Amino acid sequence: MRSWPAATTMSITVLGLLACSASNGASLSQGQRTPAAGAVRPTGDAASLKEAVGAPGIGDPDFPADGNGGYDVSHYSLKLSYTPANKHLAGVAAISATALHDLVRFNLDLSGLHVDGVLIDGEPAEFQRSGSELVVKPPRRIGKGEKFTTRVTYSGTPKPVRDSSNLGIYGFVPTSDGAFVVCEPNGAKTWFPSNDHPSDKATFDFELTVPEGLTALANGELVGGPVTAEGKTTFLWRERHPMVTYLATMTLGEFATRTGTTDRGLPNFAATAPRFDGQLDRVFRLSGEITDYWSTIFGPYPFSSTGGVIDDFHTGYALENQTKPMYGGFIPDESIIAHELAHQWFGNSVSIKRWKDLWLNEGFATYAEWLWSEHRGLLTAEQIFTGRLSMVDSPVWSYPPGRAKPDDLFHESVYNRGAMALHALRQRIGDAAFFTLLRTWVRDHAYGHATTDDFVALAERLSGKNLDRLFDTWLFKQGRPRWPERGDAARSRADRPGARITLPAPHAHPHGPRTAVPQPVSSPPRPEASRT
Ligand code: ARG
Ligand code: ZN
Repeated sequence: MRSWPAATTMSITVLGLLACSASNGASLSQGQRTPAAGAVRPTGDAASLKEAVGAPGIGDPDFPADGNGGYDVSHYSLKLSYTPANKHLAGVAAISATALHDLVRFNLDLSGLHVDGVLIDGEPAEFQRSGSELVVKPPRRIGKGEKFTTRVTYSGTPKPVRDSSNLGIYGFVPTSDGAFVVCEPNGAKTWFPSNDHPSDKATFDFELTVPEGLTALANGELVGGPVTAEGKTTFLWRERHPMVTYLATMTLGEFATRTGTTDRGLPNFAATAPRFDGQLDRVFRLSGEITDYWSTIFGPYPFSSTGGVIDDFHTGYALENQTKPMYGGFIPDESIIAHELAHQWFGNSVSIKRWKDLWLNEGFATYAEWLWSEHRGLLTAEQIFTGRLSMVDSPVWSYPPGRAKPDDLFHESVYNRGAMALHALRQRIGDAAFFTLLRTWVRDHAYGHATTDDFVALAERLSGKNLDRLFDTWLFKQGRPRWPERGDAARSRADRPGARITLPAPHAHPHGPRTAVPQPVSSPPRPEASRT
């Protein structure tokens, strides 16, 4: 389930590199020059052989090594056991995929860990390691359009990614009692072989075995277990909706858990590490309440359950892991819970195809924080926007958020100026068109991918306005915008978004209109430090 076009130029460029860095064994680089008899249909043509090689990157110009070309994963089945005492992970990943073109070789992303063997449709395949690439040579050529399953048996001590360009620590992070697994942007490869890029989504099954007494958490719902035998407990989790790799988790440790439903009847699950025991009921209640509220604003909740998890490892940020946002070692305030749950629509259901469009996730989730503040009768979105616009020295003015930079991906501009872009849009097109736009966006691209251009096109279509200049100003230009623009200044104040969200009648939220007088508070939205 991917939407990245086959990266032909890239596959050719990187081939050379790979041949040079190939380091061991039954050299695949040799195979590339002289295909082994029987393994490859004789073509006698170097160009067609190159086409039969899956590229080591999926084609994101900002993250050229991430993901892989040549196939599309539909399902991951991860059967893994982890022992915190010796930090040992062992198991099997079965990856079901469809070949996008003939394949005599393809890559998976996997960093560290030892690969014991690879089977393709049950038959042993040659493989080799090259940095974070696992290069696999199927026993026979896989034809374009063919479905095949790769089973990788592996083990070792997972190492998280640290300190790469302001990203902090991420991936499989060992903790005192287990692991905190939060993988954005490309940390899935630290614990399972994958096509580790958001442009390839798949469904997931997890069979996680941990020492008795510990709880293993993953995405989706518990479909089996926990079953304990010989001192080990196994949990079966299933995420039945497509998911990008960075949202997959196998967080484990000592957890108190609470299971139930939201007021609207959606399954809800919360878990807290012992240090945050007192938060279990609050996280459960707020996650349910906020999920229900967003489903009245953004449209039906896209997945089969919601929830939240607080672990005690201090990452300093939270991650919107599909169905189970995870908070790294701090008590989440309502604002961050609202943020991570809004990502279930913006980022998790509607996903980006390339990292530079990250504002489509973070700008939208930040704008959701403003909507939540307004809903709670605190500052309105308009007040937060105005407050941020008045910060003349803010670093957001020198970082246009429409192109998130690989060396500073989670810059506050992607969050705050991204949210300001949405508010400017709301001012321009009015509440009715704006909220219809959000709902149409999540409906049209549910479980798929979209780009900034898609968003601009939809906004223009639904509003009937040319919005090029507005998006250019807010997303792509350096400098603090002159705002409102002349045309907007001429409009009466009454046309502007006020203290209330005006939604089309059928979607009015279930709690009824607020009656409390909004009480502006002076504190600005939570500091960036809590996220990155
Ligand atoms: N997407 C997360 C959030 O909502 C931030 C993830 C940060 N990741 C990292 N490696 N620092 O806000
Ligand atoms: Zn976010």
